[in-house]
Amino acid sequence: EAVHKVIFLPSQRTVTAKRGEILLDVLRRESQPISAVCGGRGNCGKCKALVAEGSEAFPLTLTEARLLTRDEIAAGYRLSCQFKVMTDVRVKTEDPAVDSAVSKPPLPKALMREISPLVRLEEFSLSRPDIHDQASDYSRLISALVTEKPRIDRLNLLRRLPHIIREIDYRGRAVMYGSEVIDILPFSDERGIFGVAIDIGTTTLAVYLADLKSGEILAVRSAPNPQSSYGQDVISRIDYTIKRAEGIDELRIAVLKTLNKLIDDLCKESEVSKERIYDTSIVGNTTMIHILLGISPERIASSPFIPVFTGGKVFESRELDLEESIPNSKIYIMPGISAYVGSDITAGILSSGFIEDSGNVLLVDIGTNGEMALKKGDRIFACSTAAGPAFEGGNISQGTIARPGAVDHVWLNGEGIGFSTVNGSNASGICGSGLIDAIAVMIGAGILTESGRIKGEYFELEGPAGIVRINKRDIREVQLAKAAIRAGVSILMDRAGIETRDIDRILLAGAFGNYIDPENALRIGMLPNVPVERVSPVGNAAGLGAVLAVLDSGIRERAENLSNIIYYVELSGRKDFNEIFVDNLALREG
Ligand code: FES
Repeated sequence: EAVHKVIFLPSQRTVTAKRGEILLDVLRRESQPISAVCGGRGNCGKCKALVAEGSEAFPLTLTEARLLTRDEIAAGYRLSCQFKVMTDVRVKTEDPAVDSAVSKPPLPKALMREISPLVRLEEFSLSRPDIHDQASDYSRLISALVTEKPRIDRLNLLRRLPHIIREIDYRGRAVMYGSEVIDILPFSDERGIFGVAIDIGTTTLAVYLADLKSGEILAVRSAPNPQSSYGQDVISRIDYTIKRAEGIDELRIAVLKTLNKLIDDLCKESEVSKERIYDTSIVGNTTMIHILLGISPERIASSPFIPVFTGGKVFESRELDLEESIPNSKIYIMPGISAYVGSDITAGILSSGFIEDSGNVLLVDIGTNGEMALKKGDRIFACSTAAGPAFEGGNISQGTIARPGAVDHVWLNGEGIGFSTVNGSNASGICGSGLIDAIAVMIGAGILTESGRIKGEYFELEGPAGIVRINKRDIREVQLAKAAIRAGVSILMDRAGIETRDIDRILLAGAFGNYIDPENALRIGMLPNVPVERVSPVGNAAGLGAVLAVLDSGIRERAENLSNIIYYVELSGRKDFNEIFVDNLALREG
C-alpha cells in the first residue's frame, strides 16, 4: 500500500499516511491541534489546515468551496475532514492553545475555609522485632498507628514494606488515605504531599495542583480538550465511539496525553515531584467521565438516556492509565446526577456558595450543554439544555473560543460602537461574550430587531486591524442557544413554583460566565430579568469544586448526598418544551 509523508509545520515533524487517507484522521492520530466542530461531517468549516505543499494532488471539493472563503482558498487552506493525502504534503494547523492566558488561567482566590484533606501524614515509631516479638511487619505497622482500623491494600506497598521500614529505621510517617496506608515516608522527609484536581470540560481541560498540608493552590493550567478534533459536542463524540471499534480508546488517549502533559508542567512549575501527588479528584460531564474511564457512553446519546453510572468512585491511577504523571495517586471521581447533569454541576453547587445562600438561587453553567440548578428552600432542581456550541464559537461564521484576537467585548457609547479583543491582538473572530455584547449593542443601536431581523446582510466590527462580521445565520444561532437556556430556566422555575422576582441570586459558572456582561445577557433575555446586581460570576466553579474534593474530605460525603437529593428534570419529557423555547426566541428582557 502506498504511503506518503505528512510534514507538520513549523516543527517539520514527519509522519506517514496511507494514500487517500483523510487528513483529519492523520491529525487526530498525531495529536495535532485541530478543531472539528461537526466531527468531520463537512458542515462547520472549522477544521481548516494550511496545506503548504501537495494541495493540488487532491482537487478542491464542493464542500470546501462552500465553506472556505475565497481568500482562504487562495492562501492554500483546505478542510482537513475533506482533504485526502494523495502525495507528500506539508501541513500547518493553528494551535488553539497559543494563548498563555488560556493555558495558564489565574489562580482562584484562596479558599477561606479550614482544610481537612483525606490524605494526611501520621507519624509512627515501631518496636523492633526480635525472637520474642515475631509480629509481622504488617501488623507491627498497623498496631502502631492511631488511625482507626488502618490497612494496606496496595500490593506494591506490601512488597516494599520490609525494605522501607528497615531503611527508615522503624520510624517514619505513613501517608494515610482515610484509613488506608498508601505510602511510607522517612521521618525527616520534608518534601510535602500534594493533590491534583481536574475539570474535564467538553471544550477545555483545567488542572490544579494543591498543597495538601497548607491548602494552598500552587498552580493551574488549562488546555483545549483535544477531543474537539472528534466533534465539538458530546453527541458527536459519542457517535464516534459508536462508529469506530477503537473510537473510545482514541478519545480516551487523546485526553490522557494532555492531562499527563498538564500535570507534568504543573509539577515542574511548582518543583513538586510527581511521586508526592497522592490524591486526584476529577469532575466533568457524564459523557466526559465515561470516556475517560473507557466506559461506553453509547446509551447517553439516545432516549431514555441511561448512563452506566453516576456515583462517586475511587480508583488507582494505573487503572485509568494515568500512572505516568501521578504514579502514587488515588483518583476520586465525583458523583454526577444524570446523563446530562454531571459532576461538574455537583462540584459547582458545592464550591459556589449555592447551598450556603439562604435564598432562591439559580446556578447556570453555560457550555455546549447549558447545565443549571435552581434551589428553593431545601429543594434543588436541575436540568440540562442543548444550547449548542454557539457561545463557544461553533456554528458561528467567524466564531472562536476566547483566544487571542477574539472579539470579547463590544459596546456602544457617544463615539459609536467600540470593541476589544482577547490580549488586544488583531481581531480574527468573535467569542461568546463578544457575541452577546454585539447583539445587545445592535438592538440598542436599532440595527437589529428583537425578533432577530437585521438591517442589511451583516453587521461589521471594523478595527484598525481586522474585520469581524456577524451575519443573519449567526444571529439565529445565538437566538437558538439563548432560547434553549432560558427555556430550561423557565421550566426549573415552574417546577420550583417561583417567579422571576423570587430569584435572589443568579450564579454564572464557567469561563464564559466570567466573561459575559450580565447586563447584556439580561438584555437579550438569556437570563430571567432580575436586577443586574443579583447576577454574579463564580469562575470555574466546577474546577474549584474538584480542588475542594482533595482539600476537604467532607465534600465527598456532601457530594454523594447531593446527588441523592437533587431532583432531575428531563426537558425532552416535557410536552411544552418547544412552546416555551419558541416563546424565548425573541431578543428581549424577560
Ligand atoms: Fe470539517 Fe466540520 S467541516 S470538521
